[in-house]
Amino acid sequence: MTPVRIIVTAGPTIEPLDPVRFISNRSSGYMGYKIAEAASNRGHIVTLISGPTRLDPPKVKKFVSIETAKDLLAAIKKEIKKSDCLIMCAAVGDFRPDKPAKQKIKRTRALSLRLAANKDILRALSGCREGKLFVGFSLETENIIKNSIKKLKSKDLDLIAASRLTKNHNPFDNRKLDVLIINRSGQKMLLKNKSKSYVSHVLLDKIEQLWYLMNNRGTTQNVTRNKRRT
Ligand code: CTP
Repeated sequence: MTPVRIIVTAGPTIEPLDPVRFISNRSSGYMGYKIAEAASNRGHIVTLISGPTRLDPPKVKKFVSIETAKDLLAAIKKEIKKSDCLIMCAAVGDFRPDKPAKQKIKRTRALSLRLAANKDILRALSGCREGKLFVGFSLETENIIKNSIKKLKSKDLDLIAASRLTKNHNPFDNRKLDVLIINRSGQKMLLKNKSKSYVSHVLLDKIEQLWYLMNNRGTTQNVTRNKRRT
């Protein structure tokens, strides 16, 4: 098939509190890096936009390093016009310290932090959505199906890959994991105890199928929806 121009976002965002401290999350970047690697090996043109990780970047067409959610949105906006597909694997921080201190905050007995909400990046990109495939991830500790379908709809996604974080199921790092892939029509595919490389290939199979349908038969709901918009 003709190569698809894919943006993969990966890793955590970090939000500064002062020049030496930040708030962030437990994302390792492993899933996004595996997707970028698998897509590149399939001959797709991959831009990997990544928050700080301990991983060596795979061989991709372009690698962009970011820190904050704002940086991530700006980097995607720069690339999105030249892309066919966005895979939002990054664990975007939903909050940032409202007013990061310019100097190191000194020790006190207690410290209250005021956090401001970051933008929802996928929603902020709705203006660049047309003719492209958008794939999201969803990490939940409860109500995985209900919450993930809600995200799929509210973020206008073609596919969402949902995973659960519980005492017995930790999807971080290079562990095997359970993933539920849900499409626009609500069809579900459960992958149980699979490696992130395996999950990447299943997702890419689905993305390639959708891309083919969009461009050769125009029969996906995505194309119908895009036509309705124009
Ligand atoms: N995402 C995004 N912008 C944000 C937060 C998340 O675009 N500010 C993307 C993620 O990259 C992922 C999807 O939205 O593809 C779902 O992210 P997740 O953290 O599971 O859910 P949230 O939308 O942040 O909702 P909540 O934290 O309330 O579960």
